[in-house]
Amino acid sequence: MIELEISEQQVITTLGWFRTRYALFLGLELSRKADKQSIEEFGKFWIGDFKQDWDNAFTTLCEKKILTLHNGEYQLSEYGDSIKKELDAQTPFYKYEYDNYFLREQHSAAHSRFCKEVYGEDLSQHGLINQYELSFLIEELRQANCKKIVDIGCGNGKITEWISQQTNTVILGVDISSQGIAAAQERTKHNPKLQFQIANLNTIELPDTYDAVLFLDTLYYSNNILKTIELACKACNSSGYIYAYFSQWIMDESQKEYLNANATILARVAQELKLEFTAINLTDSGINHWKKKLDVLNKLHDEFINEGNNELWEYRYNEALRYASWEDKKYARYLYTLKPNNNMN
Ligand SMILES: C[S@@+](CC[C@H](N)C(=O)[O-])C[C@H]1O[C@@H](n2cnc3c(N)ncnc32)[C@H](O)[C@@H]1O
Repeated sequence: MIELEISEQQVITTLGWFRTRYALFLGLELSRKADKQSIEEFGKFWIGDFKQDWDNAFTTLCEKKILTLHNGEYQLSEYGDSIKKELDAQTPFYKYEYDNYFLREQHSAAHSRFCKEVYGEDLSQHGLINQYELSFLIEELRQANCKKIVDIGCGNGKITEWISQQTNTVILGVDISSQGIAAAQERTKHNPKLQFQIANLNTIELPDTYDAVLFLDTLYYSNNILKTIELACKACNSSGYIYAYFSQWIMDESQKEYLNANATILARVAQELKLEFTAINLTDSGINHWKKKLDVLNKLHDEFINEGNNELWEYRYNEALRYASWEDKKYARYLYTLKPNNNMN
């Protein structure tokens, strides 16, 4: 791919996502013209504090024939579209969402309180895993006598460190968020059992030496769950296991069978790969999670605002609102333990 400035990459990706559900979800109407102002506005939404100055980028991208401009509206050329696809494969557009989250949360006392109240401990959790849910994993890792683990989608590494301390294990944490990994790397200074790297779970290559591969609410970011589980199997040593927290949502009741522990998307993948698995049912915990989040966020609203962390509050609130309004009967959640098939290595 040709070399591009970060500002140019940001414009291409933003324009590429301009007419999608994601933009609608952020409040950008379908009828909006893709003019400079609207693209900048959408870019500001999802790139947040990491958005660069784009003034030159619009001009240089037109010169490079990556963008076209007609009647004030920008479009990706065919060439631009192919570059957008390469950029998406390298770095998913939601990387910035997590960079903003990990940047903002680390300076927020209100967010720390929020985590303590919702999850029982402040580990900068982003998913649903509270201390109750985590205790099942800790117990399984102890039972399996794990020593060496990889945590895929570790964020800023606080959960990783907690697991390492509770199980006396060496853990490599990987994440797409450079901001999350930068914060995580600070932990390695006082804890030699931890190591962190930026990596994309869709392209990562790992040695076959791990006792456990963890997906703590991160399989949703896989472009192909079957391939990701195959990759995780290969990273396990002969006695290793894969552990995945996995929520399954369905759109309507005709899909109800997908909520069964043996029929979620992950369970189907395991069956296709002929992997043995067990599942702990966490559905009630998952349902309660979103409602509790809303309550705690309502209570802590003024604390967030007084700190100047209104964007962080809104980010967490809007997400909680979206999921809390999902019908309970259209949701299930499990902690899966998968035994890799040794023929796959
Ligand atoms: C829902 S959060 C879960 C974080 C943490 N494990 C937890 O339970 O709170 C998803 C995490 O996956 C990371 N992530 C998203 N897409 C990824 C990818 N393609 N490769 C690696 N990490 C990714 C995000 O940066 C984020 O830290």
